[in-house]
Formats: sequence, structure tokens, C-alpha cells
Amino acid sequence: MPADLSPIDKAKFVAARRACDYVEDGMKLGLGTGSTAAWLVRCLGERVAEGLRITGVPTSTRTAELAREAGIRVTSLDEARWLDLTIDGADEYDGALNLIKGGGGALLQEKIVATASDRMVVIADGSKKVDTLGAFPLPVEVIPFGWQTSKVLLEEALEGLDVMGTDSSLRMNGETPFVTDEGNFILDLHLNRIGNARQLALVLNQIPGVVENGLFIDICDVVITGYGDGRVEVHDINEGRTDEVKYDLTEETNIFSDRD
Ligand code: A5P
Repeated sequence: MPADLSPIDKAKFVAARRACDYVEDGMKLGLGTGSTAAWLVRCLGERVAEGLRITGVPTSTRTAELAREAGIRVTSLDEARWLDLTIDGADEYDGALNLIKGGGGALLQEKIVATASDRMVVIADGSKKVDTLGAFPLPVEVIPFGWQTSKVLLEEALEGLDVMGTDSSLRMNGETPFVTDEGNFILDLHLNRIGNARQLALVLNQIPGVVENGLFIDICDVVITGYGDGRVEVHDINEGRTDEVKYDLTEETNIFSDRD
């Protein structure tokens, strides 16, 4: 592996490396978006070069490009219909494996793809683990038409909910609004603390103009958390188990091909 990785990249790298163990020959695989998912795509690319046959359904145009560059066969969800597994990053996860996603702006495709999968595995570094969701601003995808009205309606709805903030901001890309792959805008909700994530997720999606929100409730099955020293924790919510392995980051050999 590259020797000069920062501790955070090492953490993402080992989480992605461990997630590859969930991938079997012939699988149809949802490919997440973000810097941790990018490590996964590289890791899978190595496996494909060694003979692994998989079909990837990317959750963004960025990931589609990366996957093609890595030599992974890419198709659409409409073509694949149903997936064996989705592996993606997250912005926050709690003890029940509920997530905040969408920091990279791909939450809509990510939620559709994860929901269309037998299993979702999240890969993350230790900074993503929280007791209560909400410190990370919650992304909500809205259609551009009337977004200012949607913003007011969202903030009003938040007043009656168990959150510690009601402000929202339009995500920008320089001087213009950030536009998602689906042509929508993102409002980031500054909630600080989400007391009832399940209720919030349902309420947000009732507001006219809202396409989807970044709360993933009861979607994730496994979280793999990497640390800069090579440790990896695997928390499987269905099996009610947490396992730990440690990769030797000092070794000169290619960690991608260091398989059992
Ligand atoms: C993309 O829209 C997000 O949901 C990402 O999965 C999330 O932001 C995690 O990204 P990093 O792996 O870059 O932290």
C-alpha cells in the first residue's frame, strides 16, 4: 500500500479492504460515493484485474467514472433491477446503524440503490461514529422549482420536532447552487441533535418539493469502521455482533492482494 497515507486515509483504506471480503464472484454490487467509497472502487478494481467478475451499479457520475477507470463493469439500476450488496460511505452512523448521508450530494441515488440491495455495508473511519445523529448537517434534496418555499416549510416543520436547531442553508458550488446528478438542489439542515430520526425522516418527505432526505433508517446491515493504526471493527446489526481485525500497515506487500 502507499506508505505516505495520512491516518484518515489509512482508516478509510482498511475499512474498504475489509469490505471487499463481502464481495463474491458474480455479484451485482451497488457502488457508493465519496472518498471512502473511492478506496473501495480501487480495491475492487485490483480484484477484478485478478479475475473477480462483478457488475457495479454506481450511485453517482463520479463513481461511475472511477469504476470504469478501475476496470469494473458498470450498468444501471434499471438494467440490474436488484443487487446482492451495496457498499457505501456515511457522514454519521449511530449504534442502531442509522445513518446521515449526502455530504457528497449523492443521497438520492445512494438511497435508491441501497434499498434495492439484499444487504448494505457501510465503510467509515472512526470519526463518523456518534451517539446521536445530527452534528453533521442533514442533507435534503429539493427540486429547484420553489426551493425557497420548500426551505420555509422545512424550517416550520422542524419547529415541532425533537431537534436542536431549525436553520437550513442552500448548498452552493462557488457562486451558484450545487446541482445533484438528478438536477436538484440540496438544503443542509443544521439540527445539531436529532432526537427521533425515524419520525424526522417521515416528516421531511411529506413536504412539497422535497425529493428525499439523507437519513437512512433500517437500511444499513453492517458498518465497517477503520482506524489509522490498521484496526477494523465490523458491526453486524442482524447478527448482533462486533468483530475486530488488524491489518499490518507496515508491510511492503500490496494490501489489496493480502487475502486469507
Ligand atoms: C455522498 O453523497 C455521501 O453520502 C458519502 O457517502 C458520505 O458523504 C461519505 O463520504 P466520505 O467517505 O468522503 O466521508
